[in-house]
Amino acid sequence: MTAEGTRGLFITFEGGDGAGKTTQAALLEKWLTDAGRRVVRTREPGGTEVGTLVRDIVLHHRGEVAPRAEALLYAADRAHHVETVVRPALDRGEVVIQDRYLDSSVAYQGAGRVLGTDEVRQLSLWATEGLLPDVTVLLDLDPSVARGRLDADDKPFDRLEAERESFHVRVREEFLALAAAEPERFLVLDATLPPARLAAAVQERVAPLVR
Ligand code: TMP
Repeated sequence: MTAEGTRGLFITFEGGDGAGKTTQAALLEKWLTDAGRRVVRTREPGGTEVGTLVRDIVLHHRGEVAPRAEALLYAADRAHHVETVVRPALDRGEVVIQDRYLDSSVAYQGAGRVLGTDEVRQLSLWATEGLLPDVTVLLDLDPSVARGRLDADDKPFDRLEAERESFHVRVREEFLALAAAEPERFLVLDATLPPARLAAAVQERVAPLVR
């Protein structure tokens, strides 16, 4: 089931770290609220109180987290978030704009950690009772360019950001493969374009769905 089964609209932003998802999600939120739409902007991991605790483990735990445990933690965050935040908003007819969703698990745990993309996708579909976004915007960025942006930020890397370049190359390739497999759901944009150009492209894709 997609969000089509509800009255709302579910839009997700995906891409590697440093691709500019948060900026674009904020710009889309402003555009939609200015147009009078009710919007819930949220993120994974960490869109709920439980999720904040999970986020702290998956991003900041200093010792080892076994890859399967990591995949289950992201899925647990997602299950709780969808049931308590996302579905209720969609049922109220609102627009949910979300920073990362199940495609991130398929790319990072499935391809990055090499746990298997089909298994990881099935795990998330079970966790969410099959909820898929109406639109997914993929901000595509070469991992070496992303690394430069993160370095310039001068913040310490989290567990995932600190992974080797080969990990991030697998993540990027999987995101592109997911987009190619579902062209009707995905809008793929070159994340090196200026933010205003990216925002205009996102608005063009979303406009017919909010009329
Ligand atoms: P972010 O909120 O800054 O994007 O950080 C979340 C990190 O967690 C990012 O490196 C991607 C990673 N992640 C996964 O590995 N799997 C997932 O399912 C999600 C949602 C995020």
